[in-house]
This record gives sequence, structure tokens and C-alpha cells, in this order.
Amino acid sequence: MAEVIIARDQSEAGDIAASIIVNKIITTPGTVLGLATGSTPLSTYAALARSVRDGIVDVSGVRGFALDEYLGIPAQQPQSYRSVITREVVEPLELTPEYVMTPRGTGANIESAGAEYEALMAEAGGIDIQILGIGSNGHIAFNEPGSSLASPTRIKALTEQTRQDNSRYFDSPDDVPTHCITQGLGTILRARHIILLGFGRHKARAMAAALEGPISATIPGSIVQFHPKATVIVDEAAATELANAAYYRHARRSAPWSSSKE
Ligand code: GLP
Repeated sequence: MAEVIIARDQSEAGDIAASIIVNKIITTPGTVLGLATGSTPLSTYAALARSVRDGIVDVSGVRGFALDEYLGIPAQQPQSYRSVITREVVEPLELTPEYVMTPRGTGANIESAGAEYEALMAEAGGIDIQILGIGSNGHIAFNEPGSSLASPTRIKALTEQTRQDNSRYFDSPDDVPTHCITQGLGTILRARHIILLGFGRHKARAMAAALEGPISATIPGSIVQFHPKATVIVDEAAATELANAAYYRHARRSAPWSSSKE
């Protein structure tokens, strides 16, 4: 079972996730991080940036792979996930820009961009820690409900729900691309450690389905149940529909080895 941590708020959750990542980088300076976009990982990135600024961790050898990218949005456009990762991760964490990859969402032979990205990840030795958020419909990265549990990085159509959820980043809802390129559920399952984060009441249903419902392509986030090393960190609001919340709190309080005790 995934370790489930119910944090006080996003800020504590970000501190917990960042401390797991910092400890890994200290023991493995060439750590390969899987990077999520969206608002959810921001408190983790902020905590990591503080550790870098305070000289607690040296990230000069860290490499990163983003989860996904919109199709047809040039990398230099502010809404591209390449731009988002540069703004929200590479710059504040002072990562080496050439060490951070995003899937290619434009250019010739776009249908081979997924296989190219898989090859780059394999060359880097695979992902050590994959940071994940969850969509309100249970999607992770851009694996919409129904995605194959064994899927590789590939082009996918976005659901209207996801386009609507993400329209806040665009001038008009019509500007949200209809397609994306995303790491698959099979790709994500190969990461050696997964940290899934979820905050807010609007994520409570998806989180409960992912953690406590059946493992199913209908809720792509449910693959965390199938992963040998998954840490799930939610705030109180996202925990409201968890049937086993009391058990998760008890397990956290009583684990003498846990780095995430209250
Ligand atoms: C997008 C991203 C996901 C992210 C999700 C949730 O669809 N592709 O990686 O987890 O949005 O976004 P937010 O964290 O802003 O709620």
C-alpha cells in the first residue's frame, strides 16, 4: 500500500515532499527527477528552492524529465510546459537547463516524439523520484480515464474537463490545445519512487478513488496502488473522502522511522 500522509496544509506537504527529494539528492547527486506541472507541486518546488538557496543541497548534477507537453504550442510560448518548467522549476531551483527535458510537442515526425522521449529517459537511467499531481477526473500527467495501464509516452486527446480545468492559463478556453504528449502509465510505473500530491476539496473524490477504489484505467491515479514505493501526500481538504483516514493518521504517528511524523 502507498504511504498516505495527511498534512496540515500545502506548505507542510511541500516540505515533506521536498525533504524526501533533498535526502535522495544528498545520497545520489545525479538523481533523475520526474517533474509535474500545475499548481499542486508548487509548494514542493518552493521548499526545494529554499534548500538550494540555503546551501543544504547541491543540485548541479540533478536531471529532470517533465511529464507532459501540449501538442502544437511552441516551446517559447508561456503556456508551453517547457516554459512552465523553466519558470517554476529550472530557474528557482537553479537546475542546469540542459539537464531538464520536456517531451517535444512540435516539429516533424511528431508521432515518433514519444519513443524519442522514452529513449532519453532510458539513457538517463530512468526516473528516481516522480512528482505527480492528480486531475479532478483522476488523470495523472495527461493520461485521461481509459488510458492503458501499460502505456508508454505518446500523443493523447485531452478530455473537455481537462481543457476546461486548464483554460485558466490561456486567454480563451478555445486556445487550450486538444492534444498533448504525455508519459504513459507504464512509464510512470517504472519510476523508482512516486510522490503523488493532492490539495483542495475539488481533489477529494479523485484522491479517494485513486487510493481506495479499484485499480482501473478509469482512474489513472489508481496505479499508485500498484507501485512498490509510492508516497501520497494530501492536505485536510483533499483527505475528506478517504475512508481510511484514521488509519493513515495512526500509521504516520506510530512509525518511528518515518521522516514525516507530525
Ligand atoms: C494537468 C497536468 C497534470 C496535473 C493536473 C492537475 O492536467 N498535466 O500533471 O497534475 O493538471 O493540475 P493542478 O495541480 O493545477 O490541479
